[in-house]
Amino acid sequence: SGAVESDLVEVLFTEKQIIDRLGELAAEIERDYEGKDLVIVGVLRGAVMVMADLARALGRHVEMDWMAVSSYGSGTKSSGVVRILKDLDADITGRHVVIVDEIIDTGLTLSWLTSNLGSRGPASVEICTLLRKPEALQMPVDVKYVGWDIPNEFVVGYGLDYRERYRNLRDIGTLAPHVYS
Ligand code: PRP
Ligand code: MG
Repeated sequence: SGAVESDLVEVLFTEKQIIDRLGELAAEIERDYEGKDLVIVGVLRGAVMVMADLARALGRHVEMDWMAVSSYGSGTKSSGVVRILKDLDADITGRHVVIVDEIIDTGLTLSWLTSNLGSRGPASVEICTLLRKPEALQMPVDVKYVGWDIPNEFVVGYGLDYRERYRNLRDIGTLAPHVYS
């Protein structure tokens, strides 16, 4: 009952494609923040893989920090209310910040986080996401770095879970129907 790639009905992005794309985004970030202090903030828990690979693709010093947030109530994100489960350790006053997540779905998480971190007096706040679902977007989110736009399908792997499974798959894909039944 391990996490198996055979539970995927279709592989959308292979491990190599993901690493290559993150390398391109890292090159953009290096160029944009050349000579500047930079903190990248990973959104627990889904962003763990992206943070690890993006940070190592960056050929420069970068501070890595983390936040954990959760929607209020019964897990519904439509309330628009987010609470902080784990705050930053770093003081980002006057510093350049890039928030890193693996997917933007409705946009609630990153819309809220951007405004929350923006209120702390940083030099700048930008977003880097590996995936984005334009059709699912409910909040305006200004994203500076995006790996790929994808259709509004349920995807797992590389940090993305289905009921807390499949986060540790190397590839990203869609789940086979037998998994749901
Ligand atoms: C998922 C995903 C993003 C967020 C995107 O995290 O990792 O952080 O949802 O959805 P949104 O754009 O609709 O806010 P989740 O809150 O499920 O927690 P996890 O990272 O621990 O899986
Ligand atoms: Mg998340």
